Amino acid sequence: MINPLLQRSQAHRPGGAKPQRAFKDVHPCIGCNSCGMNGPCVFKDDFEFVRKHITDADMVVFATPMYYFGMSAQLKAVIDRFYAVNGQIHRPKKAALILTYADNSPEKEGVIINHYTVLLNYLGWQDAGQIIAAGVWQAGAVNHTDYPRQAYELGKSL
Ligand SMILES: Cc1cc2nc3c(=O)[nH]c(=O)nc-3n(C[C@H](O)[C@H](O)[C@H](O)COP(=O)(O)O)c2cc1C
Repeated sequence: MINPLLQRSQAHRPGGAKPQRAFKDVHPCIGCNSCGMNGPCVFKDDFEFVRKHITDADMVVFATPMYYFGMSAQLKAVIDRFYAVNGQIHRPKKAALILTYADNSPEKEGVIINHYTVLLNYLGWQDAGQIIAAGVWQAGAVNHTDYPRQAYELGKSL
């Protein structure tokens, strides 16, 4: 789902970073506070990719399946590691949310949308759009829906 969005937005804004494959090895934050909320982390892993790009990024896309009514552990681990760059990321950025899930329930998707909204308010980032892809169960099923086109259109509007 993130591919069509980036496909269009990168076409006229080359240089965008596509990190999702890099998230396979991001250790959860353990709250040791060694970073002091603005410094090196004790874990040297794929978060270094985020650290390198996020301060200067003008847009961040959060993409996740719903897992037990929340975002994926992989995405949550990355967000928790924002702690180490917290001092650098409270500056205006755009953000977007891409959510896939099997059910079709405003109540359930609202949990993740609310988390995203509160996070953006805390960071001072502005929501540029949300693609909420309900009713997709099998991995990749979303590719046979209209949602990739909507993601493409969102990328075009950025
Ligand atoms: C561990 C796990 C937990 C899940 N929990 C939910 C859930 O709480 N609600 C729901 O509607 N779908 C749930 N699903 C279904 C996934 O959200 C769905 O398979 C996924 O969004 C498919 O899209 P993808 O191709 O982007 O992975 C769960 C799937 C897994 C593997």
